[in-house]
Amino acid sequence: MGRLHQRHILVAISGGIAAYKGAELVRLLKKQGAAVRVVLSRGATEFITPLTMQALSGEPTHTELLDEEAEAGMGHIELARWADLMVIAPATADVIARLAQGRADDLLTTVALATPAPVAVAPAMNQQMWAHAATQDNVALLASRGIQIIGPDAGEQACGDIGPGRLLEPEAIVATLSERFENRSLEGRRVVITAGPTREAIDPVRYLSNHSSGKMGYALAQAFAAAGAQVELISGPVALEPPARVTVHQVTSAVEMCDAATKLAGDADFFIGAAAVADYRPAAKASEKMKKQEGRGLSLDLVENPDIIATVAQLPNRPRIVAGFAAETHDLLSHARAKRLRKGLDMIIANDVSAPETTFGSNQNAVHLITAENETHLALASKYVIAEHIVAALATQLSE
Ligand code: C5P
Repeated sequence: MGRLHQRHILVAISGGIAAYKGAELVRLLKKQGAAVRVVLSRGATEFITPLTMQALSGEPTHTELLDEEAEAGMGHIELARWADLMVIAPATADVIARLAQGRADDLLTTVALATPAPVAVAPAMNQQMWAHAATQDNVALLASRGIQIIGPDAGEQACGDIGPGRLLEPEAIVATLSERFENRSLEGRRVVITAGPTREAIDPVRYLSNHSSGKMGYALAQAFAAAGAQVELISGPVALEPPARVTVHQVTSAVEMCDAATKLAGDADFFIGAAAVADYRPAAKASEKMKKQEGRGLSLDLVENPDIIATVAQLPNRPRIVAGFAAETHDLLSHARAKRLRKGLDMIIANDVSAPETTFGSNQNAVHLITAENETHLALASKYVIAEHIVAALATQLSE
């Protein structure tokens, strides 16, 4: 599985002759296992049809900013937040100028402004237009804002000119985007992550559990692996594919998760408790299926589960950085700050689960990173983008 596997890539195509190469770009990204959505500028639809892009991406193509039907499905803000990465290829001189000015006069530029995800731009235009001081200034401005400029290539152009301005070949664009999901900043580091819910058996067929999907913990595992770390993911039962280059340890109950965590966490560089661990378990598991007693209620005797993260934070060979989550429905920050101190954590990631966009199972999240020294808010973005920020913040904490 490649680095683009399961990544959400938003491909925006603007109106130049190279627009047809956007089709090949989407095909190659899909081949790498990425989930792709396509935005076509109005100019691009003169060169390539929304239907072609829909067939290649397997998703509806987005063309209009104020289209009632599209906004009722995945509107421009949802699209912006869905992305783990946005690539504009080809980007015409006009699109580059509008991006540089922060214009939002069509769907493409609006999404580029609204996305919290990294943006890459692959320019394609006549060599004279590329060499023009206006274009060069605009490109430099975009680069200074952290936008990645991919290409252009030099060579023969559609207009007959020869020089720089050709769209980089789709294979090369894919290779560059794939590198975007890879850095070696945590090479040699070991991280242990808990994710998903736990199940506490009542009898052979029933259990107590919760709505955790495991998506945040799995996104963290992927982001740590992309940074070169060795990742051990202790996962409760979830419906997610195991991430590439991550060792997954499947567990069911909190006690099993705690055993795995205490075995694996010693001397690790990072321990991240992203699991929604059941606080209680039935005092005893019935050996046979419990029979319904007509006309009578049922009381379950519960005992407390171990606090896994607090246990790990107290190990004699404690991981260097221990970070946990605080999923709260009210008084988010004060509960989270208290929880960080109570459990002995270096960082707590506070997450409001009362809002529909950030509740259990959502593909997006918005969180506060709370340490002893500072508090940072990360606005609503895809869980992968949030995970990348968390990994960067934890790496900084480790280096300090
Ligand atoms: O106390 P609360 O469940 O809100 O704490 C949340 C944090 O503690 C999460 O990081 C979660 O993974 C961790 N936790 C744990 N073991 C428990 C309960 C919570 O590791 N029994």
